[in-house]
Amino acid sequence: MIKKFYITTPLYYVNASPHIGHSYTNIAADTLARYMRRVLGPENVWFLTGTDEHGQKIQRAADAQKLTPQDFSDKMVLQFKELWKKLEISYDDFIRTTEDRHIQFVVRALDILKKKGDLYEDKYEGLYCTPCENFWLESQAPDKLCPDCKRPLEMISEKNYFLDLGKHQVWLMEHIKNNVSFIQPQSRSNEVLRFLELNKLSPLCISRPKERLSWGIPLPFSADHVTYVWFDALLNYTSAVGTFDNNDNYNSRWWPADLHLIGKDILRHHAIYWPIILHALGITPPKSIFAHGWWMINEDKMSKSKGNVVNPIEMIEKFGIDVYRYFLLRDVPFGLDGNFSEEAIIKRFNGDLANDLGNLVYRTLTMVEKYYAGSVPQLEINEITSDENAQNLKNKIKNLHQAVYTPLSWPSFDFSSSLGKIWELINMANKYVEETKPWNLAKENKTEELKFFIRLLVEVIRAIADEVEAFMPHTAKLIKEQIGPDTVKKGSPLFPRIDTKPKN
Ligand code: MSP
Repeated sequence: MIKKFYITTPLYYVNASPHIGHSYTNIAADTLARYMRRVLGPENVWFLTGTDEHGQKIQRAADAQKLTPQDFSDKMVLQFKELWKKLEISYDDFIRTTEDRHIQFVVRALDILKKKGDLYEDKYEGLYCTPCENFWLESQAPDKLCPDCKRPLEMISEKNYFLDLGKHQVWLMEHIKNNVSFIQPQSRSNEVLRFLELNKLSPLCISRPKERLSWGIPLPFSADHVTYVWFDALLNYTSAVGTFDNNDNYNSRWWPADLHLIGKDILRHHAIYWPIILHALGITPPKSIFAHGWWMINEDKMSKSKGNVVNPIEMIEKFGIDVYRYFLLRDVPFGLDGNFSEEAIIKRFNGDLANDLGNLVYRTLTMVEKYYAGSVPQLEINEITSDENAQNLKNKIKNLHQAVYTPLSWPSFDFSSSLGKIWELINMANKYVEETKPWNLAKENKTEELKFFIRLLVEVIRAIADEVEAFMPHTAKLIKEQIGPDTVKKGSPLFPRIDTKPKN
């Protein structure tokens, strides 16, 4: 059993406004943080998010608005903070890479690596992708197009500082082989391992000449260079939660991170560069890195130029926070790509939320009001001794927490299956109502049976509210307000069906 849980999201570039892709990672991280706070106690969970504010992308976006990169970042970061507030993302810390605490940490890390002899100066001549800020070998890009973004590469020649990744390659391969949870899903782990088996890692260029790019953390040992944005940004996971002591040892209550959640496009940086940087610094690698899939629109990538970028704020205003969260976490197994559409949200809404969960809560409350004038029948759950259906339901309640937690934790982090477990209970309970026909029990004056029946449904709903809370905090709160310990207070249905028929 783990004792603490430190979870991170990527630091989002502030060059553009946040979209549903960014909100996806933060909702997933928020759900896990909330769930783990319940399991481990809030004091044992740390949830970090933030923004990536250096580098060419930001410099260019700032130039376009005639702002300094710092002023531009100060303005853009507010959009992220506002979105996280609207989505009630319960982060414990928000780090910006332009903060002093981060800059000082990066400078110290660079000094340590330099002192250890891990950084060396070299002349670089070759192909460079400016938008991606990546160097490529001619063999990797025979057509002189960036293998990642397909834009033309530039031929450059300059002096830079390098970290010898190859020196740590065998260590990394062994580490991946020996730790199943290190890179997840498993297919991503295999992908990284295959890459490492087939390629000798080239040195990582960790600097950029100031004459080409000045917006970055100055290298402590060269006035002519700033730090490569990825080297700077990755260190946030450590700079936010710890410090180096006088002997260059890193100390932190939270390290190693238990889970870095990332999108699949930044796997190489997290699964290769990051563990090697840490290893070179003498710091333990994170326990797990999970790469999730991408949300597409009509099977196509979201992009400003295509004009198909979905604004999460519009979605939560239309459907509510919990529905949006539920959809993202339920509709697609974590790790795979998904297709985002309002029709798909409405389908989940009318099915899982209105018909299944909303209906179960509403019909139960109605019965408590009708048969018991709103008082919850007082009975211990182990006193309920009805038929086999009731027994099955009781078992399902007893095992619910474990059933939800198992897929939600290592190694799969499978939100969709966890929710599926909650819905198994919901569906079983709805079926129980239909088969038991409580209206007949009432007519036939079977008061004991009716009491058992209603009380069991109340227990089902309480268990559901507890388990669903991390995924849908508002819904859980509403349910708990409606079903108190002694009495119920029926409000309007939690999820009134959305009418999809065209109006005549
Ligand atoms: N700044 C870097 C990360 C540095 S972490 C030390 C970065 N930023 S980003 O803003 O471009 O992307 C942040 C995250 O958003 C990535 O994990 C990326 O996968 C994710 N997504 C961007 N578009 C997405 C979708 N359409 N769907 C799901 N996630 C997507 O990369």
